Amino acid sequence: MTRSFLIDTDTASDDAVALIMALRAPDVDIRALTIVSGNVDVAQGVRNALTTMEFCGRDDVPVYAGADQPLLRSNARADWFHGLDGMGNMNYPPPRGQAAEGHAVDALVNTIRDNPGIVLVTLGPLTNVALALARAPEIVSMVSRCVVMGGTAWSVGNVSPAAEFNVWHDPEAARMVFLSGLPVEMAGWELSRFDAALSREDIAHVRSLDTPLAHFSIDCNRSAMEAIQIQSGEDNLDLPDPVAMAIALEPDICTRSSRHAVEIETQSELTRGMTIIDQLDNAGDVRNRQTWAQALAANVTVCLEIDVPRWKQMLYRSLV
Ligand code: RIB
Ligand code: CA
Repeated sequence: MTRSFLIDTDTASDDAVALIMALRAPDVDIRALTIVSGNVDVAQGVRNALTTMEFCGRDDVPVYAGADQPLLRSNARADWFHGLDGMGNMNYPPPRGQAAEGHAVDALVNTIRDNPGIVLVTLGPLTNVALALARAPEIVSMVSRCVVMGGTAWSVGNVSPAAEFNVWHDPEAARMVFLSGLPVEMAGWELSRFDAALSREDIAHVRSLDTPLAHFSIDCNRSAMEAIQIQSGEDNLDLPDPVAMAIALEPDICTRSSRHAVEIETQSELTRGMTIIDQLDNAGDVRNRQTWAQALAANVTVCLEIDVPRWKQMLYRSLV
């Protein structure tokens, strides 16, 4: 059975690999790609999405330009990690395609309305999705799954000790989305690290596939590998967006999850963008109500563990 997907992305190098996985999935019909400011600016994000689609031999998925800055805050680029072009400074030639007419927020609303039951996958800051919810709150009930690459579950952040980039970049938007009632499945940064990251041996295996997509997926992540080495001393490549896409494509790749009340820090600069997950589910307990901005029911399914071999095999299959 073909599944309809809608992907919101700040297309940089790990987003590109996630897009390849979705574009190559035989049972997935991607109805639209919506681009949000994050790793790179929206124009570069559109360009990178079109380039990735062309590497997959595709030009049929409409790509819409979206919000060019967070709801309330200024942009903070991740070019220190992904390269100035977001694609490892590979400076790929300009894509043949161009953005579709219309704004990404309208495209999100219209695509969801036209495809009830659609799977929404977010790979960047949640600005576009938050604006879509503000424009059409009723879309909450029309989305079957909202798989969010964002946050960390009781783990260190990658842009501060407390926060992961996508949520940190636009914490107000993230809070709107997490508290909206959308069926959010959270895939935190920690899921893509350590044994889930591509080791040097895994990278050599990808190279040995010797296909254009295999080389593209490693080439465009060369800046990321250098940055990871500097940031954490690890000699590997973590791919958070592809891990989130793997969960979207095969939900049982997430082998352990639980539902919790999740709040997003928007007031403190120290913990800006922290995903605060109520592991003991005290949020609704009257004894703790005063400690929470509002008594939250469990609003998010938090993925806590993935099947690492299956995730990597899925990645490899998409690159041949
Ligand atoms: O923190 C990782 C996330 O931030 C990924 O989506 C990466 O592409 C960046 O957007
Ligand atoms: Ca991303």
